[in-house]
Amino acid sequence: MTATKLILALLLFLLISSSIANSKKIRGRKPCKRLVLYFHDIIYNGKNAKNATSAIVGSPAWGNRTNLAVPNRFGDMVIFDDPITLDNNFRSTPIGRAQGFYLYDKKEILTAWFGFSFVFNSTQLKGTINFAGADDIMKTTRDLSVIGGTGDFFMTRGMATLMTDAYEDDRYFRLRVDVKLYECY
Ligand SMILES: *[C@@H]1O[C@H](CO)[C@@H](O)[C@H](O)[C@H]1NC(C)=O
Ligand SMILES: *[C@@H]1O[C@H](CO)[C@@H](O)[C@H](O)[C@H]1NC(C)=O
Ligand SMILES: *[C@@H]1O[C@H](CO)[C@@H](O)[C@H](O)[C@H]1NC(C)=O
Repeated sequence: MTATKLILALLLFLLISSSIANSKKIRGRKPCKRLVLYFHDIIYNGKNAKNATSAIVGSPAWGNRTNLAVPNRFGDMVIFDDPITLDNNFRSTPIGRAQGFYLYDKKEILTAWFGFSFVFNSTQLKGTINFAGADDIMKTTRDLSVIGGTGDFFMTRGMATLMTDAYEDDRYFRLRVDVKLYECY
């Protein structure tokens, strides 16, 4: 091996090892802001128009908009405007609203795709956090992307870990959302 080749090989090695070190550093980074919140979803089922916070707006041709579709709700799309609370009590004073949609996107198992915002409009918190991603509902924890924000969350990005905190029939669920932001301005 000539000396030039040896130097080139060494440079390549240094380049690769430094990029590995960099990606590890990013993965180990601590969030610059963290919020743990809950939101509550009451699906319209034909009888609870007064209390419902979400509604099936689209269903496959074999279903309808009062009952979730069989199998695995596949093809249903739901729009929601759910209260966000600091603890897991539905009756706690809401600090904002979770607004957006989810759709069920797999026939074989229960999975969903979420696109929504946390909307805050109080003296303590103003602005939005925007979420998007796949929700593998049967898993204990699932990660959604935090794709942006406004106001107090201007230009933010990060990760939100969802956990189903309660689930009652096909009528109510409560999600615990652990929002970890890695970009704060
Ligand atoms: C609405 O919610 C209240 C409080 O949880 C409950 O007592 C009532 O039965 C609900 N009404 C309907 C129509 O579901
Ligand atoms: C919707 O479908 C369910 C069964 O999947 C049925 O029991 C119910 O009556 C239907 N509702 C309407 C309004 O068609
Ligand atoms: C936010 O709060 C302000 C002050 O209470 C109110 O004027 C405004 O309409 C609210 N905006 C929304 C979108 O609810």
